[in-house]
Amino acid sequence: MSNPKRILLTGSAGRLGRAAVAGLAARGHDVVGFDLAPTPGLPADRSVVGTLADADALRRAATGVDIVIHLAATPDDARFPRGTPPDDGDNFLSDLVPNNVVGAYTVMEVVRRLGVPRVLLASTGQVIDGHLRADNVPVTPDTPPRPRYLYACTKVFLEALGRVYAAQHGVKVLAVRLGWCPRDAGQVAEIAASELAQDVYFSPGDAGRFFAAAAEADTWPSFAVVYASSRHTHRLRYDLTETTRLLGWEPREAWPTGVE
Ligand SMILES: NC(=O)c1ccc[n+]([C@@H]2O[C@H](COP(=O)([O-])OP(=O)(O)OC[C@H]3O[C@@H](n4cnc5c(N)ncnc54)[C@H](O)[C@@H]3O)[C@@H](O)[C@H]2O)c1
Repeated sequence: MSNPKRILLTGSAGRLGRAAVAGLAARGHDVVGFDLAPTPGLPADRSVVGTLADADALRRAATGVDIVIHLAATPDDARFPRGTPPDDGDNFLSDLVPNNVVGAYTVMEVVRRLGVPRVLLASTGQVIDGHLRADNVPVTPDTPPRPRYLYACTKVFLEALGRVYAAQHGVKVLAVRLGWCPRDAGQVAEIAASELAQDVYFSPGDAGRFFAAAAEADTWPSFAVVYASSRHTHRLRYDLTETTRLLGWEPREAWPTGVE
């Protein structure tokens, strides 16, 4: 493409990260990955192995980028609702707070200090899960949070964090309530068993094209919440109108295309 972007992609070795690497590379963007593990599909000098807890490493990786696409996180609750004692632990204090709350804050502070102009934050449809379960659909960007469990609470925080940095520091922030891109065979089976899950499925191909469209959009609003998923197969659950209006992106695929 004529105007390739330099992009820091956190969580680049994960399920959506690998889809983003593929979609961004296909469009000629210069991607620096940042993850606890090496990033498949990126050369060694573009694959930073590091933790969100290391602000210096993040700052080095983010220096000179046009956009940060922040995907790195603990992507779900480990066990919730809680079991019965003594087997009643979850991953809130051990993983969700350090990775999703403190880690997100560290990313936004690095962005603020470096003056990175745009940040895409990976939120989730789990923040409006209560509306989906109550059949209060389609949900729109204005639909207020009704989070599922504690993981979703960290993403409500993430959206609020983005809103604050946009308002106070002029960073342009897109908080994206992402559909379900399954990470393993168990999740594929869960989606296969649920019409609702199929309607919010997000194929790796659509995800890759979505991240490229976000990187390439000429203008971003100061702050926006949008949804991103593949096409619904049964009923419309996520209203993608605003996503298409802002980014010119539309999904091309539907469940089960792209399932691995
Ligand atoms: N896959 C989905 O269906 C889905 C849906 C909605 C939202 N999300 C969000 O999208 C993002 C990516 O999810 P995913 O499914 O690819 O998850 P994933 O677990 O496959 O990938 C997450 C990546 O982040 C990295 N990571 C975690 N903590 C880190 C830290 N402290 N420092 C550096 N790297 C760290 C992990 O090593 C991993 O490679 C997450 O923010 C998740 O909450 C995913």
